[in-house]
Amino acid sequence: MDRYVVIGNPISHSLSPAIHARFAEQTGESIRYERLLVALGEFDGEARRFFDGGGAGANVTLPFKVDAFEWADSSSERARAAGAANFLIARGRRIEADNTDGVGLVRDLERNLALGLRDARVLLVGAGGAARGVVAPILACAPARLVIANRTLERARRIAERFRAEGPIDAVALDAIPAEPFDLVLNATSASVHAEHLALPDRVFIGGALAYDMAYGAAADAFLERARERGMRVSDGLGMLVEQAAESFWLWRGKRPATQGVIGELRARRA
Ligand code: ATR
Repeated sequence: MDRYVVIGNPISHSLSPAIHARFAEQTGESIRYERLLVALGEFDGEARRFFDGGGAGANVTLPFKVDAFEWADSSSERARAAGAANFLIARGRRIEADNTDGVGLVRDLERNLALGLRDARVLLVGAGGAARGVVAPILACAPARLVIANRTLERARRIAERFRAEGPIDAVALDAIPAEPFDLVLNATSASVHAEHLALPDRVFIGGALAYDMAYGAAADAFLERARERGMRVSDGLGMLVEQAAESFWLWRGKRPATQGVIGELRARRA
């Protein structure tokens, strides 16, 4: 039976084994998918051990996405754009890296939440690894405008420079977000993970638009609660998680699982 793992630290909370078990059932694929807790600084050795032992593929989550990208023998265009990988696959002795997070976000927005990104005005808050990974896939959908707002302006500027040729992208500091209506406000910061306040001006929260937090569960609550109070549509990143998993499953197994039922089940379980 082909073996897969999700590598991270912490990892005990990961929903990925449950998601892939559902995909396997649905498609009749016989796989084993487990969590692998790896100590900080130990990524390369543990990944080597897993693949030398016959592992077929891995998903990679925080804080190892950059390590995975750098460790792999080769990487896809979208992993290079993100500078990070959440996906590894063994091709003989060689390990290839990819990044399915961006396509996961776009599918969740466009298919599950019916938000067309074409001609949309998008505000992306945050300029760390999570933000960087979704910029190229968003620009590929031809939005009217993508504004990256970050506490540290310089980091947002670097991302805007890197992707300037791919679409209409600008960088601003959090307190200089333009007073214009955005169709989508994406939170890609780690503020809530550290239980910190995210200092966003009220004008960002406009009734009727979609507020999306790329985290899921309790980590998304603070941002989404504020957006809900202002009359916005809201979503956490659970759908993104399931969609990036579906893309991973497709790349590993050549079968596309249906996602909406799985998202619904996980939401029901949480409620
Ligand atoms: P990740 O890989 O999860 O994106 P990261 O690279 O450490 O993690 O980036 C975290 C992001 O959250 C950054 O954009 C960070 O802003 P800075 O670049 O100014 O550090 C943002 N962030 C974290 N805590 C924040 C807070 N309390 N308020 C605003 N932004 C915050």
